Amino acid sequence: MEIIDFKNKIDNKKLKQVAKCIKYGGIIAFPTETVYGIGANALDKNAVDKIYKIKERNKDKPLIVLVSSMEMLNSIVKNINHIHKKLIDNFWPGSLTILFEKKSVLPDNVTAGLDTIAVRIPGNEIALKLICNIGVPITAPSANLSGKLSIIDANVVCEQLKDKVDFVIDGGISGSGIESTIVKVEDGIVKILRSGKIRKEDIEKIGLKVVQYDNNIYNHYDIGKELIMVSGDEISFNEKINSYLKMDNIKSVGIISSEKYYNNINFKVDKYISIDEDCSVVLKNLFNTLNDISNMDVDTFFIQSFDDNKIGSIISDKIREIKNIKFI
Ligand code: TXA
Ligand code: MG
Repeated sequence: MEIIDFKNKIDNKKLKQVAKCIKYGGIIAFPTETVYGIGANALDKNAVDKIYKIKERNKDKPLIVLVSSMEMLNSIVKNINHIHKKLIDNFWPGSLTILFEKKSVLPDNVTAGLDTIAVRIPGNEIALKLICNIGVPITAPSANLSGKLSIIDANVVCEQLKDKVDFVIDGGISGSGIESTIVKVEDGIVKILRSGKIRKEDIEKIGLKVVQYDNNIYNHYDIGKELIMVSGDEISFNEKINSYLKMDNIKSVGIISSEKYYNNINFKVDKYISIDEDCSVVLKNLFNTLNDISNMDVDTFFIQSFDDNKIGSIISDKIREIKNIKFI
């Protein structure tokens, strides 16, 4: 495996080398406008097979594909209607992944046998340039091992994928901090299958009818720790955790909160992880924070709740997807 540093500048010669590697069956990890992805030539059945092996992913879970142009989109999907077009015009390039009917050029394993393929044009310069150079669509499942958190940091990608990929492109901390919103259009209605930074309200604003499906069906991240989300302000944070500690036999306690909450605590804390007052900073670093705690020698973490504004709800939605999350 080779790590390529594109944090400050894209080296076009190197990019061509990586593009060639993918085109002929290689596998790479790369940044997107959401989280890091694993790329293979989406038209190459054997390369796609490797992705499932590398991620230890269940064969019935389809992959997302990225394209760099409408022309490339048209080469792999059919029946693009006016609602699809409206979504594309308003949100691409960017973090809205849309389901389309697939053409037969796409091997069956990309979509795990389904008739639909999930596609977007990514809003990330490295990803876009890469696909342009390859000239074919690439797969983009998240670059974590199956069941783990998505990754926003090339160093964490390297830890998990080690020598399983040919290249890791380091583009710094990737985009928005969470995965793309996934939608499908059915009976003239946009159905949100997975929540992301593009929200129901954002799609309604462009005059479309939107329905939000249960967003917990997709991911159940296993962070290997007990995580408890505490509702209320800094005063109830302290009170609720105190009562919980009396009830339960907890060996070591970690706190994930802003300093305002932490300063109000009157019990012993083994590990404190400070998070920003600003929700957008918290969101950007969320997966790194959660990845950090899964590596810490503490059993139970309490996390503060977040304001009910747009970014606050995105964070809460993501945290709800964690396996065995509790709320007090
Ligand atoms: O932001 C993202 O979308 C990232 C970046 C790297 O592209 N990728 C990502 O991929 O989150 P992954 O594989 O971790 O999640 C893709 C989700 C899976 O839950 C999969 O089941 C769903 O998309 N999916 C893919 N194709 C689908 C299809 N045809 N129908 C329904 N669900 C689909
Ligand atoms: Mg994933």
